[in-house]
Amino acid sequence: MKILVAGGAGFIGSHTSVELLAAGHDVVCIDNLSNSKLEVIDRIKEITSRDVKFYNVDICNKKELLDVFDIESKTKKFDSIIMFAGYKAVGESVLKPIEYYENNLESLINICIAMKMYSCNSIIFSSSATVYGDPKIIPVTEACEKGKISSPYGQTKSMIEQILEDFVNSDKNISACLLRYFNPIGAHESGLIGEDPNGIPNNLVPYIADVAMGKRDYLRVFGSDYNTKDGTGVRDYIHVVDLAKGHVAALKLYNKPGVHIYNLGTGEGYSVLEVVKMYEKVSGKSIPYKIVDRRPGDVAVLYCDPSKAKNELGWSAKLNLEDMCRDSYNYQLKGRMNG
Ligand code: WQD
Repeated sequence: MKILVAGGAGFIGSHTSVELLAAGHDVVCIDNLSNSKLEVIDRIKEITSRDVKFYNVDICNKKELLDVFDIESKTKKFDSIIMFAGYKAVGESVLKPIEYYENNLESLINICIAMKMYSCNSIIFSSSATVYGDPKIIPVTEACEKGKISSPYGQTKSMIEQILEDFVNSDKNISACLLRYFNPIGAHESGLIGEDPNGIPNNLVPYIADVAMGKRDYLRVFGSDYNTKDGTGVRDYIHVVDLAKGHVAALKLYNKPGVHIYNLGTGEGYSVLEVVKMYEKVSGKSIPYKIVDRRPGDVAVLYCDPSKAKNELGWSAKLNLEDMCRDSYNYQLKGRMNG
């Protein structure tokens, strides 16, 4: 199939492009490079020995986006669109809510407009476990009600899910697959692509990676008084390659109209200190840390029941926490681009 990967130069978009190409699909990437680098596209080609068409376009620019669809429709129309593009820093979204609503919602709406105009009936959306808020029942299943969302970033994910549900209800041909990611970490085994945030990492593992590489002195552990095995927050970390393969599996639904929702996680929860210990094991480096106050908006425990994706998509995560930390560290050594 021919797939448009919106945000294809990003962390999850690039790994998904690799797995799509490996599965024999044709990939067109579109990215405004606001949080990624053009070099990533060359590395996707190097890993897969396949060509990838790339458009440096901001999806918020409707005209430029439609021009891409117009050009590509002259050869073959897109069979599906995988929508990764969007701002994704939780803390930043609290400081810049309007930019987040404008960017994340406008880009998705433009994609839907393009889908209608160019008869593409399938979209796979990069959603997030954050839409569950602080769920009462753990592990979380897709039947769990959406909860109180603590950040504009999370709100945009929930709002986009609603926009896509309404889009599906208005057009009986549309298939919308909402993939709710838990905590994606790690990197491709080649070490050529990985997680490369600009500036100070918001997320746990990129921050630990910086400490391991001597870029930061110590990790701040946000709270050790949660009701968990060691008092620190527990999350469902999933290897980004497993996550990418989940998108390939979701393409099975490209011609099945309706809204399809799946948790993409491992079903295992690990605490902050367990991740620190694992990173020390795989890197051979000490990861100094200091316990500080809880981070506002954090929940104590969040991990999923991934059985719906297993039963309906034939997908489940195969890689464990050691694989995730090992591949993350390997990327720091071999492929890291942000100094
Ligand atoms: C994990 C755990 C922190 C940093 C968010 C979004 C989610 C997705 C992933 C984008 C928590 C603790 C963290 C640090 C720490 N977003 N921590 N020190 O908050 O579970 O999920 O990122 O793809 O949609 O909600 O991920 O990695 O920030 O935190 O102690 O410097 O690590 O308190 O318990 P989170 P995270």
